[in-house]
Amino acid sequence: MAGINETLEKMGLDYLDMMIIHSPQPWAKVNQCKDRYVEGNRAAWKALEDAYEAGKLKAIGISNFQIEDIASLLETAKIKPMVNQILLHISNTPMELVEYCRKNNIVVEAYSPIAHGEILNQPEITAIAKKYGVTVPQLCIKYTLQLGAVSLPKTSNPEHMKSNAELDFEIT
Ligand SMILES: NC(=O)c1ccc[n+]([C@@H]2O[C@H](COP(=O)([O-])OP(=O)(O)OC[C@H]3O[C@@H](n4cnc5c(N)ncnc54)[C@H](OP(=O)(O)O)[C@@H]3O)[C@@H](O)[C@H]2O)c1
Repeated sequence: MAGINETLEKMGLDYLDMMIIHSPQPWAKVNQCKDRYVEGNRAAWKALEDAYEAGKLKAIGISNFQIEDIASLLETAKIKPMVNQILLHISNTPMELVEYCRKNNIVVEAYSPIAHGEILNQPEITAIAKKYGVTVPQLCIKYTLQLGAVSLPKTSNPEHMKSNAELDFEIT
């Protein structure tokens, strides 16, 4: 709670639209150790719930949580996570986790939907994009949207930002 209050103070704001727990485990150890930090996550979640109820956060969520992490949190949570922000792109589609979130009414946010840009020169993906008459980033973003996710592509190029939003096609 002290961290949330300090953030609001530094930003000069009364509330934030959303705050999420970045990861169930310390980032340096993510998915590399057995400890899922269940108690720590429950305590952090309680702080988010309290801040939400106090009107300091308009939405609260999680990120990089696997099914077992969400299940542990749900055992004691008063409020269900509203969002799970996960690595989701054509080369990394954890379908079971996506379905689990859907069943629990947790919005999936797809981070790095263009695989950090590493997918741009992949011949098979380029051929599929060509078939639809779109760019690889457009194909990648549409792919995550058709999975029912909110897509979070990043670009520092205004032209890319514009074309990334032109998604008037359907992937079969
Ligand atoms: N929750 C988490 O743990 C977590 C972890 C990682 C990332 N994220 C979030 O996810 C978001 C995106 O992640 P990301 O940067 O890793 O990957 P990304 O969005 O998959 O890829 C970004 C790369 O794609 C390029 N790109 C975008 N549109 C393009 C276009 N139309 N044509 C050509 N290149 C294009 C960008 O270059 P240009 O700038 O040149 O367009 C950039 O190099 C960020 O907001 C980040 O905060 C969250």
